[in-house]
Amino acid sequence: MREKLLIVDDEHMILELASMVLSSKGFDISIVDNATESYELIAREQPALVLLDYMMPKVNGLDALKEIRKRFPETYVIMFTGKGSEEVAVELMKAGASDYILKPFSNAKLVERIENVLHIRSIELRNKELIQEREKLLDEIEGWNHELEDRVEQKTIELERAHHEVLLTEKLAALGHLSAGMAHEIRNPLNSISLFGQVMRAGLENDPEMQSYSDKIVSEVERIDAILVKLLSTSKRSPFKLSTVQIGDVIEKSLQTFHGQMQVQGVVLRKQLSQKTPSILADVDELGLIFSNLFSNALFEMRQGGTLSVTLVHDNKEVLVTVSDTGGGIPEEHLHDIFDPFFTTKKRGTGFGLSVVLRIVKTYSGRIDVKSEAGHGTTFHVWLPLL
Ligand SMILES: Nc1ncnc2c1ncn2[C@@H]1O[C@H](COP(=O)(O)OP(=O)(O)OP(=O)(O)O)[C@@H](O)[C@H]1O
Ligand SMILES: [Mg+2]
Repeated sequence: MREKLLIVDDEHMILELASMVLSSKGFDISIVDNATESYELIAREQPALVLLDYMMPKVNGLDALKEIRKRFPETYVIMFTGKGSEEVAVELMKAGASDYILKPFSNAKLVERIENVLHIRSIELRNKELIQEREKLLDEIEGWNHELEDRVEQKTIELERAHHEVLLTEKLAALGHLSAGMAHEIRNPLNSISLFGQVMRAGLENDPEMQSYSDKIVSEVERIDAILVKLLSTSKRSPFKLSTVQIGDVIEKSLQTFHGQMQVQGVVLRKQLSQKTPSILADVDELGLIFSNLFSNALFEMRQGGTLSVTLVHDNKEVLVTVSDTGGGIPEEHLHDIFDPFFTTKKRGTGFGLSVVLRIVKTYSGRIDVKSEAGHGTTFHVWLPLL
């Protein structure tokens, strides 16, 4: 490619001579006899190099040099100066000239200097390009790093969750072992207490106050027994019978048992179950426990009224049941613990409800998650695979 040069000099002789010599050396030459017009030409032609005379009538060569370097950083400048102006030359170099040539000059020297500057220019421009490329690459790497960090963070959260679930499962297994033995030992004496309570009651027909105490004994024994039953179902699967069950039916049936409570509390039910809900192979009662525990927790939070939303959607792989309430929500610091057996914030709670839910969801190879914000209600999602 022929390099473009522009010669700016008020002496026409110089313009003609230099352009003749340089054209014959293969350069593409433009000429102009004043600085003011040169700017426009440079903008249009974008020459690699300008040969600029220092001594010109209207615009001073130094000002022209500064202007060109400022406006066209990729156009390099060699200055023509008169003999005896070496001090000026230093100033010109500082102002951005790439070289200077003392007049009068020999043709050979002129060509040599020009080739030199063009060589340096091509190296410097290439360098600039490399630096820009490097910056672009660094930016890209930084982007990748961010992405990587995000992915690591995501995986860490998933791992922590999985680890927590493993711990829970182990805890439940240990609890199962212990509670099965204990429940057996405790339920026998409990049974006796209840029986003796009932016998005592029969003998206290003339003392209503004492009779009410024995009633209390019997009902409290029943409460302990219910807790034991719940404890057992937390950790151990009770005898089960698998059949094809419609998930929608299980939800409906469970909801029915809460209708009275919802009316009393002024809770509105919003239900969206897909028309024909899918069926899975499961134990009806066991599956029902998932929903009854979620509904019971939700209603406990809406004693002053609210909305219970239940939706069921599915594709050909899994069903998703969503249970939302508009109750008090779960504080962030509790979210991690709610599936732990014994974790409860209720005066009369056992903390077993959600452990049972988790165990059953896992039994059917499903997943459960919870989204909640204190004061803004709670949403549980339960996914159950269809295959
Ligand atoms: N829908 C909900 N809104 C607010 N908090 C909830 C909700 N569901 C569960 N929780 C919190 O999670 C805790 C554990 O629930 P879980 O069902 O395991 O036990 P519990 O309800 O306290 O006791 P139990 O189920 O034996 O009556 C609750 O005590 C409550 O703090
Ligand atoms: Mg509960």
